[in-house]
Amino acid sequence: MIQVTISKKSPLTQNICRLNLSATDGSQLPKATPGSHIDVHLPNDIIRQYSLCSEADSSDYEIAVLNEPQGRGGSKYVHENLKVGDTITISEPKNLFPLSSDAKNTLLVAAGIGITPILSMAEYLLQQGANFSLHYCVKSPEQAAYIERIKNSGLAPHTHFYFSENGRVNLSDVIQTPYDDLHLYVCGPAEFNDAVIACASEKNWQAENIHREYFTAAAIDHSDDESFEIEINSTSDIFRVSADESILNVLEEKGYDIPVACEEGVCGTCLTGLLAGEADHKDVFLTDQEHAKMDQITPCCSRAKSARLKLDL
Ligand code: FES
Repeated sequence: MIQVTISKKSPLTQNICRLNLSATDGSQLPKATPGSHIDVHLPNDIIRQYSLCSEADSSDYEIAVLNEPQGRGGSKYVHENLKVGDTITISEPKNLFPLSSDAKNTLLVAAGIGITPILSMAEYLLQQGANFSLHYCVKSPEQAAYIERIKNSGLAPHTHFYFSENGRVNLSDVIQTPYDDLHLYVCGPAEFNDAVIACASEKNWQAENIHREYFTAAAIDHSDDESFEIEINSTSDIFRVSADESILNVLEEKGYDIPVACEEGVCGTCLTGLLAGEADHKDVFLTDQEHAKMDQITPCCSRAKSARLKLDL
């Protein structure tokens, strides 16, 4: 964990603010690779993940936070309570959305606040002299975070903006015909990511060339949730998970310390090995291929299709 001080806070758009964070003890912050995020431990006991979009020559970390009044309180707290000079705790950078070293060409697609990891990738690729294009879908120029940074940099010739108030973009124009060393990176709301992945699949993209990061999950339908059992491999203890509680609730109640952050199947922090049983995967962190392997589960939101799951704990 790292203690950081908010050195700057400024609006990027009407509802997105930018925070610059520097190490409270004056030390150098760990280097982050493009696509990295940090867990931000807010003083109201909420942990949120934010992608790093620091400028190349900056020693600070920079994050951009969209105010989501209907959310669970993290972004509202950042917007309304955090101020310059406050000290907060963050994790070291983690990268679950890294650029592939195999890619010779890269198609970067962002929607809304999903621009944050995509922007750090684009700036890195530009610096490397790599072949890439950046496609930024957003409701209007006024709502586009970092529009000036993009327009006033060498990124401009690589960038295509798609402004659409209703959020509809003809993805067929964005997703080109695949070839072996072309990799696609998409970050946006769940429905946007799903639509991009569906369009790429229709165009016969290989799953391993499609990389995605979700920053919010679509609402999870719990209407058909049923009770099931979990078995702990190391102790053979068996616990019942009722229809209205999560695996995580039960594990915490029984004294298991499971690392958690988003609690909605987005970040993968709670990922736990699955040794037997059929999971009802409800997360967006694992890919369809990883879900099909049935060897990992996100206990914060996923459940069981079989009567019992054996967890590698
Ligand atoms: S805590 Fe984020 S996926 Fe479970």
